Amino acid sequence: MRYILIIFSLLFFIGIINGFRNHDSSLNKGLKHRVPGYESNPSASRRSNPNDPPAQWFTNRVDHYDPQNTNTFKQKFYVNDTYYTPGSPVFYILGGEGPVGASYVTGHFVFNQYAQKFNALLVAIEHRFYGDSIPMGDLSLENLKFLSTQQALADYAAFVPFLTQKYNTGSSKWISFGGSYSGNLSGWLRLKYPQLISAAIATSAPVKAQLDFPEYFEVVSQSIGPTCSAIVANITQTVNVMLNNGQNEQVQQMFSACDPIITDLDIATFMESLSSGITETVQYNLDNNNYTFTNITAMCSRFEQSSDPMKEFIDFNNEYNQFSGSQCTLSSYKKSVEYLQSSNYKSVNASSRSWNWQCCTEYGYWQTGSSLNQPFSNAITLEYFTQMCTDIFGPKGFIYQPAIQYILNDYGGANIQATNVIYERGTIDPWSVLSVQSQPNSESQVFLIDGAAHCAPMYPSRADDLPGVIEAREMEISLISSIVFNN
Ligand SMILES: *[C@@H]1O[C@H](CO)[C@@H](O)[C@H](O)[C@H]1NC(C)=O
Ligand SMILES: *[C@@H]1O[C@H](CO)[C@@H](O)[C@H](O)[C@H]1NC(C)=O
Ligand SMILES: *[C@@H]1O[C@H](CO)[C@@H](O)[C@H](O)[C@H]1NC(C)=O
Ligand SMILES: *[C@@H]1O[C@H](CO)[C@@H](O)[C@H](O)[C@H]1NC(C)=O
Ligand SMILES: *[C@@H]1O[C@H](CO)[C@@H](O)[C@H](O)[C@H]1NC(C)=O
Ligand SMILES: *[C@@H]1O[C@H](CO)[C@@H](O)[C@H](O)[C@H]1NC(C)=O
Repeated sequence: MRYILIIFSLLFFIGIINGFRNHDSSLNKGLKHRVPGYESNPSASRRSNPNDPPAQWFTNRVDHYDPQNTNTFKQKFYVNDTYYTPGSPVFYILGGEGPVGASYVTGHFVFNQYAQKFNALLVAIEHRFYGDSIPMGDLSLENLKFLSTQQALADYAAFVPFLTQKYNTGSSKWISFGGSYSGNLSGWLRLKYPQLISAAIATSAPVKAQLDFPEYFEVVSQSIGPTCSAIVANITQTVNVMLNNGQNEQVQQMFSACDPIITDLDIATFMESLSSGITETVQYNLDNNNYTFTNITAMCSRFEQSSDPMKEFIDFNNEYNQFSGSQCTLSSYKKSVEYLQSSNYKSVNASSRSWNWQCCTEYGYWQTGSSLNQPFSNAITLEYFTQMCTDIFGPKGFIYQPAIQYILNDYGGANIQATNVIYERGTIDPWSVLSVQSQPNSESQVFLIDGAAHCAPMYPSRADDLPGVIEAREMEISLISSIVFNN
């Protein structure tokens, strides 16, 4: 039997506005909220090491479906051929919602270790409208209509024959890799283009599109445990009481909010920012990606052992802001929206605008506080996110309805029927709720990793890896073997 490992990770996250630091890994960081001021950090992805392979460019079509539109754009990719021998596989690392850098093929992911084992050619490609691969040069509304999952998959398919010719890899099998959003793309690429892609690996992929995603905060709560969660709930509650009493200025000062907290939308913006330090710590807990601010144990023992948890949380939040490159806690809805509007759309650094577009038009996944079983604020409503889509992209009064049903119909949701697939997810990953939960068919596999966070198996192995992470990687290797050696 052949398997395809689909590593679905959650790069996605919706968020909206919050331009969370994208670090250098769109394979992993993207899904978080995007807070202005925490814009993606392309310098990380361009971290230049003289030995790094250079960026290369593929001329791709802007619109794969309109024969009269002959516009093209330059799509960035990187190749590492150090290990490649003819006939060995091509490992196709798909970009997600952020810039792709040379590190994608020089050891940032465990895939390099696999490449060494299989003499594979490592190829990483950037997603349209992220990083430096911007069709028509900007993120205007007019151009964003070419930003869709369907077009992105067609880009990735069109690249296969191009590279095959350029690197003379005609006898090689292609295996796609991705995590989070790009994990989804990896599985979907195999589903839609099985003649090009022999297998796929998808880690932590949010396979089930859904508009309202209150489960995110529920899993965060479970992952930090009842004691820690109760402290967070108490803080949220205390802030709520203060805001209800009109002590907005005091709240602003206490939590170093960047701007006055005035409207309900400001409150939602602020409460969402306050949750970020904790949710991000959970999402990336101990993932060996070298970018996490802290880990769950350290964070919670800090809160739990303090005689003044509120003060401890405030310190934590300030440190987290600094880590994220911000001096204060985002609190102005208006500024968040303005940041993502036209005045900044030319900034190729602004992955946030592109990601928000994808969430508003295709995915939903709004991480609301609508569940009672979680410690964050119920001011973070679906209306807040919906309003934001309208305010960012306009026109006034237009209600964006993400094409969730279309996405589910087109790809199958958690019942995706691609063969030779492994869907991996970690039990503490808030995104795991949207991953494939049970085996969709006999030629794919589902693997739940006890204790693992978002995309954990994608990073280089280390001595203290969780047993489940080690097992997941062994599973991937044996599945790749079965594809490559045809047994
Ligand atoms: C390929 O990746 C390895 C690390 O896995 C690195 O040592 C090597 O320099 C890379 N080759 C190129 C051409 O970048
Ligand atoms: C938060 O916890 C403190 C200390 O246990 C308690 O005095 C206070 O009433 C709690 N506040 C809320 C809103 O639950
Ligand atoms: C993380 O840092 C360690 C030590 O600096 C390094 O050996 C490792 O390769 C890094 N991992 C990643 C994913 O960059
Ligand atoms: C968690 O973070 C703390 C503080 O940075 C560190 O001392 C500890 O080693 C980390 N835990 C693990 C398992 O890495
Ligand atoms: C993008 O980011 C780089 C590096 O952080 C910065 O130098 C550049 O000015 C930014 N470009 C825009 C258009 O904001
Ligand atoms: C990710 O893929 C699954 C199918 O594998 C699908 O149900 C889900 O909607 C996808 N996520 C998004 C955001 O489209």
